[in-house]
Amino acid sequence: MSVHKNREIVFETVEDELTPRFVRGAQPRQIVIRNRAEFADKIVDGAHFSVRVTNIEGSSRRPRRITIDIVREVIPVLESPLGNAFWIDPIDFALIRAHIADGQHIWLVGPRGTGKTTLVALLAKHFDDVPYVKVDGAAIINARSAFGSDSARNASSVFRKSEMVEFLEKIAGTEDNGGLRGIVHVDEFCRMNSSGEGPWHPLLDHTGAFDMQTSDGTLRVEVPRGVIFVLPDNEQGGGHVGVMTMDIALQDRLARFELGYPKREWEVPWLMRETEINERDADAIVEVANQIRRLATTQGFEKGGPSPRRTRMAARLVMHGSSREIAIEHAIVNFYSGGRSGSDREMVRTHLQSKKLLQEVVR
Ligand SMILES: Nc1ncnc2c1ncn2[C@@H]1O[C@H](COP(=O)(O)OP(=O)(O)O)[C@@H](O)[C@H]1O
Ligand SMILES: [Mg+2]
Repeated sequence: MSVHKNREIVFETVEDELTPRFVRGAQPRQIVIRNRAEFADKIVDGAHFSVRVTNIEGSSRRPRRITIDIVREVIPVLESPLGNAFWIDPIDFALIRAHIADGQHIWLVGPRGTGKTTLVALLAKHFDDVPYVKVDGAAIINARSAFGSDSARNASSVFRKSEMVEFLEKIAGTEDNGGLRGIVHVDEFCRMNSSGEGPWHPLLDHTGAFDMQTSDGTLRVEVPRGVIFVLPDNEQGGGHVGVMTMDIALQDRLARFELGYPKREWEVPWLMRETEINERDADAIVEVANQIRRLATTQGFEKGGPSPRRTRMAARLVMHGSSREIAIEHAIVNFYSGGRSGSDREMVRTHLQSKKLLQEVVR
């Protein structure tokens, strides 16, 4: 490895400490940044810089210490590429864009409420309002139902194509200029009955087509060039149901992206804009949410962490005059109640009280 090689680092919070990590390549035990002070105000969770390596100690495969200078910020972390109403990590967005431009189908996973469903509609808008259709995965009860259904008419049976098939046929009839022509959004993909999975294999691989017998004869379903499928996965239990259940051959055909919670530096001003609460209140709500998000990951909470929806709900209560403590208790902590989550709520309470983030509340 040449000492002068240009590389990239990102900062991540590990055990409450902002830690630099190389984007690609060997991870040294220690990264020393000579000009860290110069970039102090830009070094936040998720910040992404290009750097120049000035010294390497130890083996090249597992260096002990790498000394670097930050050259410049690659992507300013506080800017969400889809506008200030929706957070997406700029690095993820750049990759998703590249995949879409390349004709690659996409599988979105991530905790409930991190914007998977919302993102797909925003993507269609972002790509010059490209034609878009949304299908509900949970409504796909067997292999045929995504494509159409037999219905009786005049004592004989006719096959009615689904909205998705009509969409694909409509796009096939439009001019192909080489770019993106349409997005098919199959929401909560893995809630589809597993017997519905079969046809997706040929549909989403290079053949992009499959034949199906209907009461009207053979229906050929084809994915025209330039049409992208985006499949958000719902979450069930502590993990993502899709990771467990989506057929591996199908997983292999898709580019997988995991959406996460917004960065604190983004979520606080977002709450302030959405609800006009002050910074102290917004900051407290996000701090509590982030504590519980970490706890949810380490403890495998049935309900996952609090989504931006929950932080906004707490912020709205504050806007309407609730105290910050009551709002957090009601909108965020009490979400963890009922069934198995009852014990999760006790864990949340104990944790927040130990961090002095929640008052003893008489119930
Ligand atoms: N990344 C985000 N940025 C801004 N708002 C978000 C984000 N994620 C979720 N939300 C809010 O939460 C709501 C629910 O998000 P949704 O797209 O249904 O999540 P998912 O499909 O991942 O469960 C959205 O309407 C939006 O108001
Ligand atoms: Mg969703």
